[in-house]
Amino acid sequence: MKRVTVRVPATTANLGPGFDAFGCALSLHTDVTFEETDSGLEITGCDEAFTGPDNLAYTSYCAVLASLSEEVRGVKIHIDAQIPVCRGLGSSAALLVAGAIGANVLRGGKLSTQGLLNITNAMEGHPDNLAPAFYGGLTASMVDNGLPVTVSFPLHPDWQFLALVPDFDLPTTVAREALPTTYPRADAVYNISHGAMVLKALELGNEKLLRNAMQDRIHQPYRKGMIADYEKIEALIRTTGAAFCLSGAGPTLLCITRDPMLKDKLAEKLDRITTANWQLLPLHVEFQGARVLRCE
Ligand code: HSE
Repeated sequence: MKRVTVRVPATTANLGPGFDAFGCALSLHTDVTFEETDSGLEITGCDEAFTGPDNLAYTSYCAVLASLSEEVRGVKIHIDAQIPVCRGLGSSAALLVAGAIGANVLRGGKLSTQGLLNITNAMEGHPDNLAPAFYGGLTASMVDNGLPVTVSFPLHPDWQFLALVPDFDLPTTVAREALPTTYPRADAVYNISHGAMVLKALELGNEKLLRNAMQDRIHQPYRKGMIADYEKIEALIRTTGAAFCLSGAGPTLLCITRDPMLKDKLAEKLDRITTANWQLLPLHVEFQGARVLRCE
């Protein structure tokens, strides 16, 4: 076997209060093909800026080979990405996951999904996007003794996700630098209690509980100033009854609702209050995690 294509879902991390812990896979995908060659690295299908050895699909590919004590030979990598880059929908995690699975499959599939999650989590530093990208669905993760532990949670079938994706990006490094290094105890209690309620509300399909629970004091208050029109858009969404949060580190904003008309209700009003262009992307939960599409 010399060539493998891996499909990885988009992910939304945090879901409000679950900073660096909660994540959910969504119905957008990035496909990455790895083909071993005699020498060198060739990356196609992405911006020139991402075609070097620091490409995340390649770095995780190399990390998995290193953990298997296997030699890195030449490789051609082709990226076919639906997931928008640097928008808070897990584009980086998707590349890390694809590279890890690609290398593992090409060299005989010796590592388990947990093993691949361990390796990629050491690279990313938090498992909230990686876990649902590997496993699909809604997950919560903790890091214990340096290793990620993930559990999956049920979701009510009527939820609809609507991502508001702007035409500007926000690198995660910048969005993380904006955060304090310590927090008051009251903020920690606020997030722990709200986080527990988010998971139950998602299971029950309780939109009112979710709307109240999906609030946060750890990251969103420090990031909203970096996102044009955040407060105006949040106020508009709150008039619809949908639950609202920043998707990951942003700048995408996420609505979770049971109202199939939410997109129509927001579309026209959004144009009137915003300065940037926002694409409204209806999505659903992707229950299937990363998978091998083709092996040749
Ligand atoms: N939990 C991460 C953050 C997600 O909010 O910074 C983005 O990688």
